[in-house]
Amino acid sequence: MSGIKLLATGSALPQHVITNHDLEQIMDTSDQWISSRTGIRARHHCRGEESHTGLCLEAAKKALERGGIRPHQIGVCLVATLTPDHLTPATACVLQRELGLEEDTVCFDLNAACSGFVYALHTAECLLAAAERKYALVLGAEVLSRVIDMADRSTCVLFGDGAGAALVQWREDYPSIHAVLGCRGDDRVLVVPGVNKREPSVVHMEGQDVFRFAVEALPRCARQVAQKAGITLEEVDRFVFHQANQRIINFAVKKLGVDPAKCTGNIEHTANTSAASVPILLDELVEKGEVKPGDKVLCVGFGGGLTWAGALLEVARS
Ligand code: UT7
Repeated sequence: MSGIKLLATGSALPQHVITNHDLEQIMDTSDQWISSRTGIRARHHCRGEESHTGLCLEAAKKALERGGIRPHQIGVCLVATLTPDHLTPATACVLQRELGLEEDTVCFDLNAACSGFVYALHTAECLLAAAERKYALVLGAEVLSRVIDMADRSTCVLFGDGAGAALVQWREDYPSIHAVLGCRGDDRVLVVPGVNKREPSVVHMEGQDVFRFAVEALPRCARQVAQKAGITLEEVDRFVFHQANQRIINFAVKKLGVDPAKCTGNIEHTANTSAASVPILLDELVEKGEVKPGDKVLCVGFGGGLTWAGALLEVARS
């Protein structure tokens, strides 16, 4: 036995909120279409001085403060993202300076799209096993408003910005998170532009193909994690699913036969924040007291890559 437990969380959302009604004023869409197809009613977009790094800093500081851990105790700092401010320096490197982490802290960004935060949790668990300092900051953060095409109503209504952070501790007597990670290489159905100038510079998504992938991958991954951890789905206290579409979650909940009250989300006010969605929701649930010390939380991300990732994260008892 050895692994990580969750000590504390934090999150940050940009100030500026765009409702479905706001979008009705600037494009051919409706609150009815967006909310009935996705469950989304509003999203946050960065404006002015707000940045990916700024959101990460705010979320990380909250997690450190709530967990009562000092920056010099951190051994690993990972940021899962596909929309960093810079390709280099990585956001995690800027966090090293801004948070005052030790120079030998392992700091890097990781891109596994919407599965990124859970990929990063697993990576942190592995790295901490060999690290001197046994605490890690694991973040998921996105500024998707910078890569969406506001002329494409089929994608721009879906995405929002935000950051979430988890402070975790590795101990020999803690259980593993039993991560299940996977990928089915596909550069057709969901593409966010990089530095290849021959590609369009905005998000492209074949919505129905991604939907079909998601309703299969999400429940499969959740089952595999529970099996690997040797527990039944009924023993899970809380499910935290990537908030891509409420209909995808409803399908998964039905397929898994789990209590829908354990699977509520926040897509209504955040929209799809890709790698940030799982940690932002986790933080909201912790803040509301819906995730408590001792709880077993089954997190699943899925999306671009195509990737999927699940883990059973236990909340430490203080
Ligand atoms: O986080 C990464 C993972 N991403 C996902 O999991 C997303 C998965 N996909 C989805 O959630 C859904 O496919 C969408 C919400 C993106 C789209 O829903 P859909 O039911 O698959 O709609 P559709 O793309 O088939 O479009 C249906 C109609 C089309 O009109 P026609 O051709 O039937 O006349 C679209 O042009 O809806 C139209 N449409 C819109 N209408 C009003 C597309 N976008 C909009 C819009 N407002 N914003």
